[in-house]
Amino acid sequence: MTNNIPVLIDEKKIQARITELANQINKAYKDGVTVICILKGSIIFTADLVRKLTVPTYLEFMVVSSYEDTESTGNIKVVKDLDSSIANKDVLIVEDIVDTGKTLKYLMELLNSRHPKSLKICTLLSKKARRNCEVDVAYYGFDIEDEFVIGYGLDYDQEYRNLPYIGIYNDTQKD
Ligand code: IMP
Ligand code: MG
Repeated sequence: MTNNIPVLIDEKKIQARITELANQINKAYKDGVTVICILKGSIIFTADLVRKLTVPTYLEFMVVSSYEDTESTGNIKVVKDLDSSIANKDVLIVEDIVDTGKTLKYLMELLNSRHPKSLKICTLLSKKARRNCEVDVAYYGFDIEDEFVIGYGLDYDQEYRNLPYIGIYNDTQKD
């Protein structure tokens, strides 16, 4: 059931912020950008963001896994790698959320070793208080408190990704 989930960020706020982020990205990447959507969580954000980009945009996907239930294992696995080379390209990693930062630190190291022209991060959400790795986030939508959030691509145990807003998960929701 999804009718008793407290809303943290509603659809309108999400869309307005994505428009602002897209404007910044359009200005910064006049020659085009290779967007890497980190599946599964960032599928919805990426889909909305790229439709607001007006510069030449190339879309790539990676699947990584790190989380079990509500805790990051810190054990990052590339489940599906890129299909094409990013050498000499301006690359933007699009993530749903940066929490401890472990996933993005790992991805930045991995992708930088493939010699892109530039490599930056765009995330919809950031839990700054939880960061325990140094990651340089070039674009972020919202900084949020240390709460487990669901919806708009984010899951709890693979559920709730389809919610059109960001909600707060608490374990009484299943009852
Ligand atoms: P990190 O490696 O700790 O930064 O975790 C990053 C990944 O953990 C994200 O890509 C999400 O998939 C997941 N994650 C972190 N916090 C949340 C949350 O509040 N809700 C859902 N997934 C989360
Ligand atoms: Mg994720």
